[in-house]
Amino acid sequence: MALVDMSDLLRHAHCERYAVGAYDVVDTAFLEAVLDGAEGCDAPVIVSLAESHFDHFDFECFMPAVVDAARRARVPVTIHLDHGHSLTTVERAIRFGCNSVMVDASLSSLEDNITATREVVRLARGCGVTVEGELGYVPGVEGEDAEKHPGAMQMTSLADAERYIAETHVDCLAVSIGTVHGRLRGAPRLDFERLSALSDALHIPLVIHGGTGLSDDQYAMLAANGVAKINYFTGLADAAARSIVAEAESKDSPAYTALIHGVRGAVRAEVERTCRLFGAAGRAGAASAACRRWREVEHVVVYNLRDGGQNVDWSAFAAQGVEAIGAIPGVRNVLAGRALRTDAPYLYCWLIRFASPEVVASYRDHPDHVGYADKVFRPTAPDRVTIDFELVDVSGEEKESSLSTQPPTSSGTKR
Ligand code: 13P
Repeated sequence: MALVDMSDLLRHAHCERYAVGAYDVVDTAFLEAVLDGAEGCDAPVIVSLAESHFDHFDFECFMPAVVDAARRARVPVTIHLDHGHSLTTVERAIRFGCNSVMVDASLSSLEDNITATREVVRLARGCGVTVEGELGYVPGVEGEDAEKHPGAMQMTSLADAERYIAETHVDCLAVSIGTVHGRLRGAPRLDFERLSALSDALHIPLVIHGGTGLSDDQYAMLAANGVAKINYFTGLADAAARSIVAEAESKDSPAYTALIHGVRGAVRAEVERTCRLFGAAGRAGAASAACRRWREVEHVVVYNLRDGGQNVDWSAFAAQGVEAIGAIPGVRNVLAGRALRTDAPYLYCWLIRFASPEVVASYRDHPDHVGYADKVFRPTAPDRVTIDFELVDVSGEEKESSLSTQPPTSSGTKR
C-alpha cells in the first residue's frame, strides 16, 4: 500500500482500540521479515530504527532500502526513529527518511525532558513528522537479559504527564507502567489502573516499550486501554538467534548463508504472531483508508546566471548552495544541475527533495535559506522559476488502496 503518516495511523489504532507493532530492524533480513509478517496477517506496521543499534549497521546506507521496502509494502507502513538521544540524530533520521521520531530524555529531570522534547517537536512540526515523547523510565536493554540491566523503574505520574503533554504537544507518549526492555523471566505485573487513568486524562495514543514477554491477555489489555503502539525487539532477536543456533548444531561446518537462511522466516512468524495479539491483523485496509499518504516534495528551481554567467564560477557557486541549504531540517537531498544543451531556456537547476509539504514553509523561512537566497542566490540568478512538485505514485496502487487525503476524525470507545 504505502508509506503513511504516523499520527494518522496511531489515531486510527487508538480510536479502534488496537495497537500497531513497532519492530526494531537491524538488517535487511529483519526489514523483509517485518514487512512479510505484517503482510501475512494484513496488519499496518511500524518499521523502527533504534539509535542504540546504529553500531550494528550503517544507518545512511540502510535507510534507502528501508524507505524503498516500505513504499513497496502491501500494508500501510511508517518509519520511526526509536530512542533518539539528540536533536542531531532526529534531524539526521528525518533527512534519511524517518517520518516519525522518538525523543528519549526520560532519564532527565521533568524540566529538562520538557525542554529537550519541545525542541524536537518544533523541528519535527516544520517537517510534518510525528513525535513520540517518553515520561517515566522503562529499564533494561533491548535484546539482552532484562535482569542484567535492571536500572530503576520509574512509573509515569499522571500529574507530570499532564504537564508534559500541555507543554510539549507530542503526538503520542511512551509510558512506564511495569514493562522492561529485554528478555524476561515470566510476565511482568503491569499497572493497568495507572494506564487507564493516563489514557482517560491525556486523550492521546500511548506507547509501550519493552513489549517482549507479556502474556496474550496483557497485550489485549494494553490495546483496550489506550495503547496504540507496542515496541517489540527482543522476541525477534531471540527467534533469529534460535534459528542460527539450531542450524549451527545441525551441521558440522555450516556455511554462513546456511546459518542465516532461517532468520527471515523465524522473525516473520514472530511478527505475524504479535500483530495478531496486538489486534492489528486484518486492519491494513481500514488503516490505509484513514491515513494520509506520506508525500515528499521536489522543490525545483531553474535559473540563468546574471550577465550570462560572466565572472561567476558556477561550480563554486553551486557547491556553496549545496552546503548552505543541504543541512536545513527536512531537506532530504540537494542536486545541482547544468543543462545539456546551451540553447535551453534555463541553463541551471536545483532539485531539492523535501521530506514533506510542511518543509516548503519551514525551509523558506529558515535563516540559512534566507541568508543564502537573499545574499547569494537571488542577486546572482535574477532570472528563475521555482515550483514545488508533490511526488505522486502513478503505479495505480494508490487508487486501489483508496487512501483519503484527510486524517481520521472518528472517536472510539473502550472495548
Ligand atoms: P523489547 O526488546 O523488550 O521487546 O523492547 C523493545 C523496545 O521497547 C524498543 O524501544
